[in-house]
This record gives sequence, structure tokens and C-alpha cells, in this order.
Amino acid sequence: MPTIVVIGTQWGDEGKGKIVDHLAEKADVVVRYQGGNNAGHTVVVANTVHKLHLLPSGILYPGCLCLIGNDVVIDPAVLLQEIQTMRERGIDSSNLRISNRAHLIMPYHRLFDRLEETRKGEHKVGTTGRGIGPCYQDKAARTGIRMVSLLDPDTFAEELRQTLEYKNAILTAVFGEKPLSFTEIYQEYLGYAEKLRPYVLDTGYLLNERIAAGQKVLFEGAQATMLDLAHGTYPFVTSSNPTAAAAAVGSGIGPKCLDKIIGVVKAYTTRVGEGPFPTELLNETGDLIREIGHEYGTTTGRPRRCGWLDACVLRYARQINGLDCLAITRLDILDRLPEIKLCVAYRWQGRELTEFPASLKTLSEVEPVYETMPGWQCDTTAARSYAALPPNCQRYLDKIAAVSACRLGVVSVGPGREQTIILEDMF
Ligand code: IMP
Repeated sequence: MPTIVVIGTQWGDEGKGKIVDHLAEKADVVVRYQGGNNAGHTVVVANTVHKLHLLPSGILYPGCLCLIGNDVVIDPAVLLQEIQTMRERGIDSSNLRISNRAHLIMPYHRLFDRLEETRKGEHKVGTTGRGIGPCYQDKAARTGIRMVSLLDPDTFAEELRQTLEYKNAILTAVFGEKPLSFTEIYQEYLGYAEKLRPYVLDTGYLLNERIAAGQKVLFEGAQATMLDLAHGTYPFVTSSNPTAAAAAVGSGIGPKCLDKIIGVVKAYTTRVGEGPFPTELLNETGDLIREIGHEYGTTTGRPRRCGWLDACVLRYARQINGLDCLAITRLDILDRLPEIKLCVAYRWQGRELTEFPASLKTLSEVEPVYETMPGWQCDTTAARSYAALPPNCQRYLDKIAAVSACRLGVVSVGPGREQTIILEDMF
């Protein structure tokens, strides 16, 4: 399979970074195709923890071409800082290329993200505050600024002047804030332009060439299915499409170029931010999972809400993404639990639902139907094969595959590269 898409199947933070890192070893090209620095991928290499927000995980492999696609929104200061941090660790970013069609996160996007959340009060989304939503809003409103404009000082000045005039009118009249200075933003961003210029080109053209040459391409999704703007738990979602089909739109290739779709599934569920979460554990078991799993946001440090694995979510993710197989992560976090529950259906108003509810009111009212299984209560972090996993653990995995109607492709039992059990060849 020359091209693979890696997707989060839940509400994000499934451990996609580790799976992507594993596959990136064999990939010729790794592509980020949506989202921005709201994402946070953690990859552990030789005891060094790398937290990547914008750089594709392939950056850790010399020789791998890393593309940031057209539907990624880029905060230039964050990207340059990430490149610098990598440089200090001896990791070179000369194989990075950025789409000239990618949109820029501007200072007013970050500001509006916070102001709009505050204004929404108890109805807030619980965003990462990185300006992601306002940047995508501008893209859809056709007032966004793209990389290609940043590289041309005159075009950039013209677009910034027009947009800023409108943003300042809202800032002052609606929010009672001070207007932002054109000159300050212009000078700051021109500085970024010179540093980013060597990386910017038409990544779609380059990617099509590489695919035509038969190279192995990995598409690295950020966020996850349930945070998808079109299919997730709207409005408690992000502003892009983290689902598989968006890999084509977000990187400039045709949908027939996507060969294999892998869904990453955390062995339990977490969510940051607001919105319904049927299997949430508001008890000591939830607290225990949070502590053992260090479930605090990579990007914001917020404690993550924790709960049991939800097969209704998995089946929905299979349907939306056309999943070929699953990569189960963080299985070892459940090692100590005496019993494990898996939600196999939703009951609502006395009946079992067949479809995943679009209504958040319904979703917040559903009663999860659980199947309870005994835990394995032993360490799985040294297991290197499926057979080496304890029988109760194997039963849990088999059950996940059965209720989600997907094959198991990978099982991860720890953060290290070696703590990965491969059940299906990927590339
Ligand atoms: P935004 O993407 O910052 O606009 O935030 C919208 C929602 O998506 C919030 O609930 C965030 O917590 C959530 N979110 C955004 N990025 C991630 C991620 O990478 N992992 C988990 N949740 C995320």
C-alpha cells in the first residue's frame, strides 16, 4: 500500500504521534493536512520526548520529505520556534516544505479565539486558544491571508490592511478592546516571511509527483473524528476536517490516491474541552486513568476528561473514515484495573440506537450499555507479540475488533518505539 492515512477515531490524543512515528520510519513522505498548533503529538525517541505541534512526525527521520499541506493553518512564530527547538536537538528541518496555499494564523485570530470564548460564557467550546477557529473562519469568509501572500510584501500589506481595518472595527465596537497596530503586525510577519521563504512552495504539485513515482506517503491526521467540523459533536469540535477524506483536499491530491486508512484508538477514551461524553468516568476510576496515563493536554496542559472505550464512537469512526484497521494505543494504562468496561451500544428512550446521534441533547441523554470484563492486572509493557499479552487482555482486544467490525493492525503497550506489536504489515 503506497499511501496510508492515520486518523484519530475518538476526541483526539489517541497517541497518533507514536503510530505515525512508527510508520514514518518506512515512509518517503509524511504529510500534515489539517489543523494547526492546536494539535500536540508526543513522540519518544531514546528517552527524549518530542512534542510536535506543527511539524510532521517524519521530521525525526532524516531523508523523509515532510509536507505541511494547504489546509493546515500556520502560526509562523510557533512553526519557527519548533524548527529551532529541533535544530538545538540536532534534528534538521531541511526536508520540510510548506504549502503556499496554507493560511496564516494572525495575532487577531488568537485574540478573537479568547474573546469569543469568553463571550460565549457557559456555552464556550473550550478551544485551545491558538486562533485556529478564527483563522478557518477567515478562510471561509475569503478574508484569510495565505503563505503565498506573505512572501510578497505588497500583497501582504494590502491584504493585512483590508482585513485589519475590519477586525479593528469589531475589536473596538463589539469587544471594547484597543485596535491592533498594522505596522507592528506587518513588521513582525515580514520577519517570519524571510525565515519561511525557503520552505514554501506548491506542495500539492510535489506530492502528486512523488505519488506518481510510487513513493510511500503517510498522511498524518491531527485532532480526530469526533472533533471533525462536519461529523463530530458539533459545535464542540475543531474548525477543520480531521477525517480521512480531508487528507485529499488538505494536500492537493485526488481521493483515489488514498490506499489505506488506519484508525488510532486509545484503549479508553479522553476528551479535552466541553461537550457530551457518554462514557465519561466522574469517579476514582476516571481519576486513576488520568493519573496513570498522565492525561493532561500536550498543548494546553488541561486535565483530560477520562472514560471507558466507546464502540459506538468506533463504529461511527469506521463509517465516516472507511477504516481498514485499528491501531490500539495506551493499552498498558489499563494494566492495574481489576475490571474493564466497554460500551457496546447506546440506549435512549427505551431503545437501542442504530445511528450515532447528531443531536447533542440526545447524546447527553443516552445510557451506555456496557460489557464488563475482568482486567488482566499485570504489566504488559514488555510484551512484544500478541501471544505475549495476558489472556484477559487479548479478550479485550478481540472484543474491540468484534464490536467495531475492524481488524487489529497495531497494538501499543508503551511510549517507546520498541513497545509496538505489529499485527498487519502497513507499507
Ligand atoms: P480548537 O481546535 O482550538 O478550536 O478547539 C476546539 C475543540 O477541539 C476543543 O474542545 C479542543 O480541546 C479540541 N482540540 C483541538 N485540538 C485538539 C487535539 O489535538 N487533541 C484533543 N483535542 C483537541
